[in-house]
Amino acid sequence: MASWSLIFTLLFVCFAISDASETDVLLKFKDSLANDAALSNWNASTNPCSDNKVRWIGVLCTKDRTVMGLQLENMSLTGLVDVDTLMALPDLRTLSFSNNSFDGPMPNLKQLSSLRSFFLSYNRFSGEIPDDAFLGMGSLKKIYLQQNSFSGKIPTSLTKVLKLLELRLDSNQLEGKIPNFQQKGLQLVNVSNNSLRGSVPKSLSKMDLSFFSGNKALCGEPLLACKTKKPTMLVIIIAIVAIFVILAAIVSAIVVVLLRLRKKHQPSKMRRTPCSTNPKKVASYDATKQNYNWGSAETSPCSKGQNGKLVFVRDDREKFELQDLLRASAEVLGSGTFGSSYKAALFSGPVMVVKRFKLMNNVGKEDFQEHMRRLGRLQHPNLSSLVAFYYRKDEKLLVSEFVQNGSLASQLHGKRTPEMPGLDWPTRLRIIKGVAKGLIYLYNELPSLTVPHGHLKSSNVLLNESFDPLLADYGLIPIVNKDQAEQYMVAYKSPEYEQYNRTTKKTDVWSFGILILEVLTGKFPENYLKQGKSGTKSNLASWVNSVIREEWTGEVFDKDMKDTKHGEGEMLKMLKAGLQCCEEDIEKRWDIDEAVERILELRERDDDEDYYSSYASEGDIYSSRAMTEDGFSFSVHT
Ligand SMILES: *[C@@H]1O[C@H](CO)[C@@H](O)[C@H](O)[C@H]1NC(C)=O
Ligand SMILES: *[C@@H]1O[C@H](CO)[C@@H](O)[C@H](O)[C@H]1NC(C)=O
Ligand SMILES: *[C@@H]1O[C@H](CO)[C@@H](O)[C@H](O)[C@H]1NC(C)=O
Ligand SMILES: *[C@@H]1O[C@H](CO)[C@@H](O)[C@H](O)[C@H]1NC(C)=O
Ligand SMILES: *[C@@H]1O[C@H](CO)[C@@H](O)[C@H](O)[C@H]1NC(C)=O
Repeated sequence: MASWSLIFTLLFVCFAISDASETDVLLKFKDSLANDAALSNWNASTNPCSDNKVRWIGVLCTKDRTVMGLQLENMSLTGLVDVDTLMALPDLRTLSFSNNSFDGPMPNLKQLSSLRSFFLSYNRFSGEIPDDAFLGMGSLKKIYLQQNSFSGKIPTSLTKVLKLLELRLDSNQLEGKIPNFQQKGLQLVNVSNNSLRGSVPKSLSKMDLSFFSGNKALCGEPLLACKTKKPTMLVIIIAIVAIFVILAAIVSAIVVVLLRLRKKHQPSKMRRTPCSTNPKKVASYDATKQNYNWGSAETSPCSKGQNGKLVFVRDDREKFELQDLLRASAEVLGSGTFGSSYKAALFSGPVMVVKRFKLMNNVGKEDFQEHMRRLGRLQHPNLSSLVAFYYRKDEKLLVSEFVQNGSLASQLHGKRTPEMPGLDWPTRLRIIKGVAKGLIYLYNELPSLTVPHGHLKSSNVLLNESFDPLLADYGLIPIVNKDQAEQYMVAYKSPEYEQYNRTTKKTDVWSFGILILEVLTGKFPENYLKQGKSGTKSNLASWVNSVIREEWTGEVFDKDMKDTKHGEGEMLKMLKAGLQCCEEDIEKRWDIDEAVERILELRERDDDEDYYSSYASEGDIYSSRAMTEDGFSFSVHT
């Protein structure tokens, strides 16, 4: 009996629910809404889908006069969306509450599993959408959630809504990645104006770009390619960089041309530097000298106040102020990316060379000054000595004395004129020996530096009035920015840096070897000019090889080298010493002591018997590489 009564009760309950009229269901639903003035014709004594004139506002009906949907748009509704009550409408297919004032979490629409579409857009819904919010909604085709304040991730259950055609999530605060949508029929997935990141799934890559815009960290088609995964981004960056480089080149070419033109059109030779305040002073200086300004206004040391002070590192020179230097007529000696140098003739007489360096911030101010004082204490007949320096964060000036005969590079490779004939062999020998002496002095005085010179090349060997060499730009490695040094400084073009990324105590010897070969052959190691890390050094090595191999049987020595008679044997020894110094294998390469000792032994003339006999008996000390070539036949040009 008890069981029968239970069954009856259940049947009664079921009957009662299904029997509840749509009128009652909707009125119950309306009860949980607030601000529902727009629904005033929802009347208990009428049917929502009755065919008389009072069809309920916002109710969509089927042909059979059952409720198919609710379209409660633009009504300023608030309160609660009572989904549980709507479950009693079996034919409900679509719901729209678009453009109202609903807030709080998204209604749990999952229970209305036969919904084809719903529109919650333009409300104030907020919070995370549960990841399973759309689970089991196999009939859904359109989901509009845009223009709310939803946060958190896009629910992955959306990817399982198999019939989905349109999904709008735009203008919310969604974050994380876009899940991997695979539905075939997807026509619209608008996620623009969120905080999404990561790559756009491939399946969406053909969609309109505007659906993904407004997300700072989204990438991949149809947006820009992602940095890490696709090389195209790299290509774009390279293209941009290339364009900048080209533009910079064009601009600087224009600047150079303009400067030249300006110079030509200057009526007077007595032109002021930008900082000169007293033109008379300049005028009283040798007016035939070509003047030049100190560079562009922003970078000129004079433009940012002239109160910077020169710090003198030596006591034995006349003191002067930075202003004196700036006021002096200046002439560009050379300008490179690494540093530009100017010649400045002081009013009081001395002529100084000022080198400007930009990227010299490897150490702080104190350490920089300490290092400068250390360099200032160095004194040797074959060193161009530092006189003073000027420190500013973004610019350093190093002041030294002007040296009469320019650089070894200009003597070797400059245009031959009656005033500048090729250097003869005795002079070249003296220059190499002087470099050797200066170099070993640096080794001894700067023992803490692995590479005491670091930038030894022919343009950093200056020649005084008697053509004795003076080394310049030494000891700078500790203070130059690392990447700048790697790009431009000779030490970083050595084979050991190329192969092992390190420099050794023999690195300067290698540069010295290159220098020796350059002095003897007159061939310019042009690859020094090229910057950058990769490729350059091996080119330099191949330059060395070209000296050995291709020229070995030809006319090795510089045709412009005079006075070589009776010196061929010694010249050959010097050539081999050069090769020994730039031996790629560090083990085989001479160290500085041996290099200097061997070189200082060499003479101008072969017929110096004491020397010759002792040296010849030593047999083969030369590079095995060189000796494998048979039949050395040198024709020395005289
Ligand atoms: C409902 O409709 C009937 C007749 O159309 C009307 O008399 C009645 O006042 C309405 N009730 C409400 C609550 O609007
Ligand atoms: C929202 O509704 C108001 C009227 O209530 C209307 O003026 C406005 O255009 C609607 N906005 C949207 C986006 O539908
Ligand atoms: C709500 O307002 C928008 C914009 O004004 C309009 O396009 C839409 O048709 C309106 N909805 C209804 C049901 O009137
Ligand atoms: C996509 O979303 C943006 C931002 O809300 C909107 O401006 C745009 O009209 C939407 N486009 C489509 C086709 O839904
Ligand atoms: C993105 O959202 C902000 C704030 O909701 C809105 O001001 C802006 O117009 C939206 N942008 C687009 C493209 O819809």
